[in-house]
Amino acid sequence: MRTQAADKYWWLIFGCGLLPLLALFADIAADNLGGNPIQAIHIRLGDWTLRFLCLTLAVTPLQTVSRWRGMSGYRQLLGLYTWFYATLHVLAYVVADQGLQWRAIVVDIYQSPYIWFGVLAYMIVLALGLTTSNWAKRRLGKNWKKLHRLIYPAGIAAVIHYFWQLKGNLAMPVFYAIVIVALLGFRLLVWFKNRHLNRLLIPLGRKTGSG
Ligand code: HEM
Repeated sequence: MRTQAADKYWWLIFGCGLLPLLALFADIAADNLGGNPIQAIHIRLGDWTLRFLCLTLAVTPLQTVSRWRGMSGYRQLLGLYTWFYATLHVLAYVVADQGLQWRAIVVDIYQSPYIWFGVLAYMIVLALGLTTSNWAKRRLGKNWKKLHRLIYPAGIAAVIHYFWQLKGNLAMPVFYAIVIVALLGFRLLVWFKNRHLNRLLIPLGRKTGSG
C-alpha cells in the first residue's frame, strides 16, 4: 500500500514529468526553437527520453542505499514517462520529420545504423511499458523481473544511438554513458555481494540444520 507521503511524492513526480512537455509547447508558441524547429523538437524529446531512462535506472540503487521500500511506484511512473517521451520522439521523426513517407522512413532507417539502436531501445521501453501493470507482473511471474532487467540494455542501446549520430561535441553522450555504466555497475556489485553472502551463509544453515 502506498503511504500518504509516497502518494504526495508520486503526484509531485507526475507533475514534474509533464514540465519538459509544457516547456516545449511554450517554446513552440513563442517561436523559440531556432531555424529548424522540427529538428529541435525531435532532439529535445530524444534528450528527455534519455534523461527519464537514467532516472528510472537510478530508482533501484537509490532504494538500496536509502533502504526506503516502496519506491517501485516511482520507478513505474518514471519508466512510463520514458516510454511517453520516446513515443513522442518517434512520432516527431515519423510524422513531422519524415511526413509519414513510409518508403523514405524504411530507407532512412536501413541506411542509418544509429537509428537501429534507437529502435532497439524503443522496442524494449515499449515492452516494459506494456508489462508495467500489477496484472502483467502476476501473469509473468519470475519472468517479469528478467524482462524488466532489459532496461539496462535499453540504456546502452540509447547511448550508442546518441553517440553514433553526433558529429561534434561528444561530452553529453559520454556523460550519459558514465551514468548508465555507474548504475549498472552498482547493480552488479549488489548482485555479487548477495551471491557471495549466500554462499557463505548456506553452509552455516546446513550445519545448524543437521546439528
Ligand atoms: C528509447 C529510445 C530512444 C532514445 C532514448 C533516443 C534518444 C535520442 C537522443 C538523446 C538523440 C540526440 C539528441 C541530441 O542531439 O541532443 C536522438 C536523436 C535521434 N533519434 Fe532517437 N532515441 C530513441 C529512439 C529513436 C527511434 C525509435 C528513432 C527512429 C525510429 C529515433 C530517431 C532519431 C533520430 C533520426 C535522431 C537524430 C535527430 C537529428 O539530429 O535530427 N530515435 N535520439
